Amino acid sequence: MNLREAGIGEGISEVIVTTQSVSGVPNAAPIGIIAITSESGSNYFVRLYRGSKTLSNVQQTGKLAANVTHDAVLFVKAAFEPLTESWFSLFHSFPVLKGANSWILFDCTFREESSESESFTFQLTPLAVRINRKEVRAINRGLNAVIEAAIIATRNAIVGEDERDRAERERQMALYARIVEKCGGSREKEALKILRERHG
Ligand SMILES: Cc1cc2nc3c(=O)[nH]c(=O)nc-3n(C[C@H](O)[C@H](O)[C@H](O)COP(=O)(O)O)c2cc1C
Repeated sequence: MNLREAGIGEGISEVIVTTQSVSGVPNAAPIGIIAITSESGSNYFVRLYRGSKTLSNVQQTGKLAANVTHDAVLFVKAAFEPLTESWFSLFHSFPVLKGANSWILFDCTFREESSESESFTFQLTPLAVRINRKEVRAINRGLNAVIEAAIIATRNAIVGEDERDRAERERQMALYARIVEKCGGSREKEALKILRERHG
């Protein structure tokens, strides 16, 4: 199945991944969907870092949904706080985000564990796709900067940091903040505010 129409192209597509626990508690987190494309079609993967709710849910249930969105606030909220039930809807009885442009429900098959066991790679097989809205959008540097800043902020939580890392992170965050102020719209500026409240 080619997922380009649903917004998942070649390379790494940043989406919000929704999952659920065995007892049915939904979760959302920004995750990159990796597409490796050849003449015979595309193969999809995710690399999940140890310690995330997303990883434990995928290990327990073998399923995830990719929610394609351009909403900067959603990326930042999903990265740092549990989203309440009101953000979710159901697609084939699986939790997805109400506001997303498309939903792709995947079956997940464990493929490999990294050498230090810090990440686990799963191959994704699409089970169902729904396109809710087709959006035509120009590139917005403010949105790109929010995504980069959110990655830096979450990486620090995953791998930890020393004093030199901290100084470098602050330098990069200041650069991205300037881009958001200059190029972003209201959603990007609100996302930056949430990021700053959480990460100084
Ligand atoms: C744009 C973006 C992409 C990310 N991609 C990944 C990824 O591919 N794999 C991963 O394990 N974490 C990734 N992260 C980090 C997780 O979103 C972060 O660790 C999150 O807090 C996990 O939440 P959870 O515990 O609710 O699953 C990404 C973060 C951002 C902002």
